Amino acid sequence: MTDSQMQDDGPDNGRRDFLYIATAATGAVATGAAIWPLIDSMNASAEVTALSKIEVDISDVEVGARLTVKWRGKPVFIDHRTEERIALAVADDDNPDLIDPATDAERVQRPEWLVVIGVCTHLGCIPLGQETGDPVGQWEGWFCPCHGSVYDSAGRVRRGPAPLNLYLPPYEFVTDTLLRVG
Ligand code: FES
Repeated sequence: MTDSQMQDDGPDNGRRDFLYIATAATGAVATGAAIWPLIDSMNASAEVTALSKIEVDISDVEVGARLTVKWRGKPVFIDHRTEERIALAVADDDNPDLIDPATDAERVQRPEWLVVIGVCTHLGCIPLGQETGDPVGQWEGWFCPCHGSVYDSAGRVRRGPAPLNLYLPPYEFVTDTLLRVG
């Protein structure tokens, strides 16, 4: 597991958990972008942990489509990746210019499904790229309009100031068409 992966924190294991609180956008944030300040909180309560699992029916998410769901108050981006997006990501696995090096295989359980936390690792804006017509950047991923960070089709940061790849939430495939996040 890489530094940019989120851990599934239980109440007793003392590992790090993140909570995000939405606030009003400020004048420094580009129009249409939301900012989610990051608060480092230790030891989520049992209630929070119990509510932290969601199940997502992905049967209607067509190849090439992206779905946003809310988990623990945060957006989770689910990308049903095309063969082209997978190939683009894999082709850069060994690229020395990666800011937060990771292979595509380290970031997915199944190549056709990328699941990431949709919060920019710079200052917490929600990157664009989920809606049809959104800018996705030259690496077919996501673009953060707040300060210009660009993520690739594996959710790896390719242009800063964001320092880390988009976080990976804990998740599992319950079936081929049902995803459990949390
Ligand atoms: S918050 Fe995304 S680039 Fe600054």
